[in-house]
Amino acid sequence: MANRMSAIEAKYEAQKIAFAPIFFQAAVCLKELNILDVIAKARRGLTLDEIVEKTGLSNYGVQVLLEAGLCINMVEQDEEEKYTLTTVGRFIRSDRMTEVNMNFAKDVCYGGFEHLKESIVEGKPAGLKVFGNWPTIYEGLSKLPDQVKQSWFEFDHFYSDDAFPHALELVFKEPVKQIYDIGGNTGKWSRACCEYNEEVQIKMLDLPGQLNVAKAKNSKEAYADRISYFEINLLDEVQAIPKGADTVWMSQFLDCFSADEIMSILKRVYDAVDEQAFVYILEPFWNNQRFPASEFCLVGTSLYFTCMANGNSKMYHSEEVKKMSVDTGFEVVDTFELIGDSYHTLLKLRKKS
Ligand SMILES: C[S@@+](CC[C@H](N)C(=O)[O-])C[C@H]1O[C@@H](n2cnc3c(N)ncnc32)[C@H](O)[C@@H]1O
Repeated sequence: MANRMSAIEAKYEAQKIAFAPIFFQAAVCLKELNILDVIAKARRGLTLDEIVEKTGLSNYGVQVLLEAGLCINMVEQDEEEKYTLTTVGRFIRSDRMTEVNMNFAKDVCYGGFEHLKESIVEGKPAGLKVFGNWPTIYEGLSKLPDQVKQSWFEFDHFYSDDAFPHALELVFKEPVKQIYDIGGNTGKWSRACCEYNEEVQIKMLDLPGQLNVAKAKNSKEAYADRISYFEINLLDEVQAIPKGADTVWMSQFLDCFSADEIMSILKRVYDAVDEQAFVYILEPFWNNQRFPASEFCLVGTSLYFTCMANGNSKMYHSEEVKKMSVDTGFEVVDTFELIGDSYHTLLKLRKKS
């Protein structure tokens, strides 16, 4: 497609990239300064003066933002010079996925991304220094500024939440007594399991900062005594995963690690389970998406890992993760693609007999 562009079209595309950070912030302002809202609420559109009056902003401020909005197809003008929202503008104003992605890009990524080149060259998340001096974002997650934390968690949860209900049905088709939720984070999956099944026991394995947050949340629940905790840093190869699980669950977890680190983690999962256990990997693989927008978002998310999270991980292709699983000694007994209304694929593994 790109190759069939005329030179004039291609030069325009190149300028969109050159000015992308500026137009991104303009889109944020159009939304957060309520310009999109006041336009949306006026059924027949509004003139510049009317928007100025309704928002209380300066004529100059509204004008530069709306001119930017015209350029990026967020607003359009009719013959009477009234502004209305385009479909793009409506998505920016009120589509939840767009909101979650924009807040994540603005609050978590924007400030650090001028260090992307350094991250690539040095193999470190060089952008993370805008928030603190941790080796990866996961050590600092619970200490991030509130707005950044909120946008990080909303981004994380938005994608996995839709996959969980169907995943529960798939996991509990097997007899399940003891689940290890590796990288369990705030405990959403663990709580969902306890609510789904009255007897199941869960052990959450994660870094101490995340486990403390999860413990506080879980303690309010009647089933709190069915969830236990195991502090672990899986980047330290010496730290073993305890034995005892009949089900191991890793959701949006392996994408936090490089290929070598994933092999080391899978090896330790392999050592921890017996031949009857099932190991589940839930991931939004970039190659297995229904819409081009999803693939675009996932490839963009890889760069967040590069610059802000850890400097060496990414969103993976399903075949890469399957190969790593098989190379560790597992067989992929089932693949459930795009489960529920989600972007996720569930891989079900078992030790090769
Ligand atoms: C992207 S979150 C996934 C959260 C959750 N499983 C979900 O599906 O929404 C990744 C989780 O992996 C944990 N994690 C990252 N690095 C880790 C490490 N080195 N050792 C143990 N856990 C780690 C993080 O603390 C975080 O809770």
